[in-house]
Amino acid sequence: MKIKVWDYLDEYRIEKNEIEQAIEDVLTSGYLILGEKVKRFEEAFSAYCGVNFGVGVDNGTDALFLGLKALNIGKGDEVITVSNTAVPTVSAITATGAKAVFVDVECDTFLIDTNKIEDIITKKTKCILPVHLFGQCADMNRIIGIAKKHNLFILEDCAQSHGAEFEGKKAGSMSDLAAFSFYPTKILGGFGDGGMVITKNRDLNDKLRRLRFYGMEKTYYSIEQGYNSRLDELHASILLKKLEHLDDYIARRRQLAHQYDEYLKNSSLVLPKEAKNRKHAYYLYVVKHPKRDLIIEELKKKDIFVNISYPWPIHTMEGFLNLGFKKGDLPVTEKLADEIFSLPLYPSLSDADQKTVVQALIDILKTI
Ligand SMILES: Cc1ncc(COP(=O)(O)O)c(C=O)c1O
Repeated sequence: MKIKVWDYLDEYRIEKNEIEQAIEDVLTSGYLILGEKVKRFEEAFSAYCGVNFGVGVDNGTDALFLGLKALNIGKGDEVITVSNTAVPTVSAITATGAKAVFVDVECDTFLIDTNKIEDIITKKTKCILPVHLFGQCADMNRIIGIAKKHNLFILEDCAQSHGAEFEGKKAGSMSDLAAFSFYPTKILGGFGDGGMVITKNRDLNDKLRRLRFYGMEKTYYSIEQGYNSRLDELHASILLKKLEHLDDYIARRRQLAHQYDEYLKNSSLVLPKEAKNRKHAYYLYVVKHPKRDLIIEELKKKDIFVNISYPWPIHTMEGFLNLGFKKGDLPVTEKLADEIFSLPLYPSLSDADQKTVVQALIDILKTI
């Protein structure tokens, strides 16, 4: 039987009744756009993260884009982020007209190397955009300290870190704004696209509400240039139900990750590191090996499918060469792209399937 890196079907079978009820509730309510479910989900999810406001949007990329727009970031500005991330982190920055400036990452946590941020701050720098990648928060104490010193905004990319913690604080609660994605594979994932920007700041909240709705507060009257980026009632209703299970999803992810740690501790794989003051939510369980491609080929022969997040650093991609970076500029990021891969991990992955993956890996590692 095939083992995939991610699958939702078993989880759906367990939650089928709740999800169908959530859909039915919307279809029979008479409200399909920006109704009660979006409002309740915004309140519940922002409260879960420990902030006052949440604005539901179309997807995580828009959450980043609108977050930057709300901070008035655009042409002529620079935003510091990482190249070791999903493309949308960077496309959201460039879509505002601002320039993304990359800093390398730490080789053990794969997260922004805070020792290198100050080297690239210029007069044009407006914002630091740390990505809490793979389910773990970047070093927010350092980032907050640097941002204060240089008077910069912070926008956290939390697309992969729902429920992750830094010194007991939830991802997204430590900055001006934070962007979440509810893309199906995410820790809190729906059955389609969805996103949210969260904030403690009322003015930013009001501005984001306008930006996602053509710049309107009242229907048909724009008070500023805006967009159409609304979270649908249907997705909000389903996500509201799934939010009740979020802590259980994270607990199961952590259990599976700790089991991988235990089973693979004596193998030649380099295993992921949970930094001391953080709670990793294990969106992905990312390992490193110099013979990564060979291992993946061998696993495929055994019907086990893993993933590489991400095989190409963004600064080396054709679509982003105009940012002025080249191969060799970010050595840690570039080496990671050659060696990392993620093992199957999602809440409904069974212990038996996990053991099959582990045994296959151990057998393969002996022969290569
Ligand atoms: C780190 C990161 N940022 C942003 C996004 C964008 O989210 P979405 O796919 O919902 O637009 C994603 C998801 O792909 C992501 O992983």
